[in-house]
Amino acid sequence: MKLAAASALILAICAGNACAFSTVHLSASNGLSSSALHSTAATKTYTFTKSEEIFAEAKTLMPGGVSSPVRAFKSVGGNPIVFDKVKGAYAWDVDGNKFIDYVGTWGPAILGHADDDVLDAVKKTMDKGTSFGAPCALENELAKAVIAAVPSVEMVRFTNSGTEACMGMIRLCRAYTGREKVIKFEGCYHGHADAFLVQAGSGVATLGLPDSPGVPSSATKATLCAEYNNLAQVKAIFEENKDEIAAVILEPVVGNSGFIKPDKEFLQGLRDLCTEHGAVCVFDEVMTGFRVAYGGAQSYFGVTPDLTTMGKVIGGGLPVGAYGGKKEIMAMVAPAGPMYQAGTLSGNPLAMTAGIETLKKLSADGVYEELERKSKKLVDGIVATATKYGLPISGDYAGGMFGWYFVDGPVKNFSQAAKSDSARFGKWHRMMLERGVYLAPSMYEAGFMSLAHTDEDIDRTIAIADEVMSQL
Ligand SMILES: Cc1ncc(COP(=O)(O)O)c(C=O)c1O
Ligand SMILES: *[C@@H]1O[C@H](CO)[C@@H](O)[C@H](O)[C@H]1NC(C)=O
Repeated sequence: MKLAAASALILAICAGNACAFSTVHLSASNGLSSSALHSTAATKTYTFTKSEEIFAEAKTLMPGGVSSPVRAFKSVGGNPIVFDKVKGAYAWDVDGNKFIDYVGTWGPAILGHADDDVLDAVKKTMDKGTSFGAPCALENELAKAVIAAVPSVEMVRFTNSGTEACMGMIRLCRAYTGREKVIKFEGCYHGHADAFLVQAGSGVATLGLPDSPGVPSSATKATLCAEYNNLAQVKAIFEENKDEIAAVILEPVVGNSGFIKPDKEFLQGLRDLCTEHGAVCVFDEVMTGFRVAYGGAQSYFGVTPDLTTMGKVIGGGLPVGAYGGKKEIMAMVAPAGPMYQAGTLSGNPLAMTAGIETLKKLSADGVYEELERKSKKLVDGIVATATKYGLPISGDYAGGMFGWYFVDGPVKNFSQAAKSDSARFGKWHRMMLERGVYLAPSMYEAGFMSLAHTDEDIDRTIAIADEVMSQL
């Protein structure tokens, strides 16, 4: 077993192609409507003239032409398309092309883009101003909704992004325990703070950066990295670092190295190890919160952490993050306690409003069953289509979140995910894009279903996938 202070580690990407698993993880015996199988005429492909023009200029103005690396198409080839507007399940680019969108602005758009009720509420709030920098009653309202929904959260602090939430969270874990070391997992992403840029997923994995220059070794030497779904390894780290581990931090369903589900015993085992060793158990639910279930992955799996980070959905498409947990721990946060963390725009009234309206709609009966039904329908259809053409594939889903890999499954950890065929993924991505399906431009990202996606959208997606996979 190799455990090291993480800054020195290099991503162990397995280049081997010997697959231990030859069975397809999910079979697609149901959920596939017959209309998906009748793709006859070849779909007309899009051109991206205006996008190319705007992006060429963007590259001269901003590094890589983007405001966040995952938006670039570096790992799949070609240039990103430039969006003009979004609504419901769709996005339109500046050339007027329409896409069925499964990125959903990277998770927040769970109701569908630009939901009318959310927009109306935001417009009303906006008439009262865009930022107060003083307490506002809307904060109470969103806090109450989050506390009622998420089992571990008794008190919450709002921030402006998931990254900020995770920065506050790790400082709080260290302040509360008086310890410095934290355990994270290969392929999990917790925002771009120094301490987390160690074997991180998302753009860090996509771009093949094992680490980032500019991160001082002092910032990562207390970050220990373990393999996802490998409880024995975490146990060993605890043994080797007696009374030194402040926290175990993980994505309770991984969405930043593609989509990886935890074994229930793994989550419960981590919970128990934290209790036994006096470490804080943290679920980073920035992506999974209100996404896999109303109460997040902790309610989906029935395992309750001590602290939870959130973002994305709770901001309804405006910039938000949050961390929360047991009152006893949250009492450490300034000004109630000595652990300092602050924000000029935190608790912003527009963001609070979008969050409140979004959660209201998500709390209706049957919402997550419907999201999971649609995720299953899409994943089953994609897996069946790939299987039909003899392509290795493994797919899975939870609530409104899903993913598939071009590799035989099941995929349980980052090294297995990294065996997936990246050249095939690149070709797949471009061909789907040209035919009107917008997927994340990386095999290390999950997909997102919204309430606005119709069965017809999903059937059409599967039909286009059939056409594309026949040429992969
Ligand atoms: C699990 C997780 N944590 C943290 C973050 C960082 O959030 P943000 O991009 O809002 O800073 C993300 C973003 O994708 C995430 O998925
Ligand atoms: C990762 O998961 C695969 C199963 O998907 C398993 O065979 C393997 O042992 C795990 N660990 C490593 C290092 O590959």
